[in-house]
Amino acid sequence: MRILGIESSCDETAASVVEDGETVLSSVVASQMSTHGKYGGVVPELASREHLRAIVPVVREALEQAGTRLQDLDAIAATVGPGLVGSLLVGLTYAKSLCFARGLPLIAVNHIEGHIHAVVMESKRAGTPVEFPAMALVVSGGHTHLFEVREGFEYRLLGKTRDDAAGEAFDKVAKLLGFGYPGGPIIDRLAPHGDQSAVRFTFAKMKGNALDFSFSGLKTAVLRWVEAQDMESEIETRRAVRRDKPAPSIEEWLAVTPQRTLDLLASFQHAVIVELLTRARSAAEGMEARTVIVSGGVACNSGLRVAATSARFACPVYFPSPGLSTDNAAMIAAAAFPKLARREFASLDIAAEANLTLT
Ligand code: KG4
Ligand code: ZN
Repeated sequence: MRILGIESSCDETAASVVEDGETVLSSVVASQMSTHGKYGGVVPELASREHLRAIVPVVREALEQAGTRLQDLDAIAATVGPGLVGSLLVGLTYAKSLCFARGLPLIAVNHIEGHIHAVVMESKRAGTPVEFPAMALVVSGGHTHLFEVREGFEYRLLGKTRDDAAGEAFDKVAKLLGFGYPGGPIIDRLAPHGDQSAVRFTFAKMKGNALDFSFSGLKTAVLRWVEAQDMESEIETRRAVRRDKPAPSIEEWLAVTPQRTLDLLASFQHAVIVELLTRARSAAEGMEARTVIVSGGVACNSGLRVAATSARFACPVYFPSPGLSTDNAAMIAAAAFPKLARREFASLDIAAEANLTLT
């Protein structure tokens, strides 16, 4: 069984062919980072335009790399939401037109479910399948959610961010300090050069659901710290570095980043990791999870990966490989396999849903 997956919910145009829900025959991702980098975040109008430019060659390349023709496919899966509506529409409409032309079934996939299936697919392939009930922490630029995942892929929301997503906090702090976009990978690589106990950040106790997250207070605390330190000139130096070169190397960033800023970055990253893992652990304990899944762009974070292994979870913790942590289409095709088995097909007039939820 082969499914072509198409993903275009944010700033990556991606296509992939997956066989039997576990073998990735191809995974092509066209990133728009260079387009949005200079604006310090994703510009929705530019994103849709870039998707339009990329969608045909990206799908063609995914099919070619997989040695697959359209007539060899069993279904086409596309992200239907959540995401930027103009971006979602490009991938979804292209998927619909291919389905219409070839008489193939269309499978609509929730982007968040895709992130969870990146881990389901890889762990199955590795011979250590996810056991249910599982607890999933989906942590990306747009989401910070905890879900209970039951056999048959039924989901229950356990907690979520009340303001910024964790990836968004990484991106905003990086932008504030004059680094490029996306900020997560830059902070990840600079943090080991700083002292994570140098700046103490405290988190406000959450009223109501104790498994909800909040990152806006942390972002404001970083802002206050920066204002108190008179850092304008070093921030301006970094902005100038970025103007000269869109993607400076870590060595180039290190050359314009004094120790106190490295300490700030390390402390900030540490605070995010503690916040994520503390709530993930109590969620997993509360539902007696047999596997913990961590997925989404922030799951690439090396500090988070190391901390998760020493966080004393009572069950195994699985992360996707880095290429399947950030947005990709293999996870969309993988999430479609159980739906193909259930013949859960979408009608060709299904609409993209910017605020689609999983539960
Ligand atoms: O899953 P993703 O590619 O897109 C969304 O669905 O949002 O996640 C992108 C987010 C960005 O906020 C980016 O800064 C963050 O993931 N990210 C990281 C790392 N790599 C990507 N955050 C921390 N450490 C990383 N290594
Ligand atoms: Zn994502």
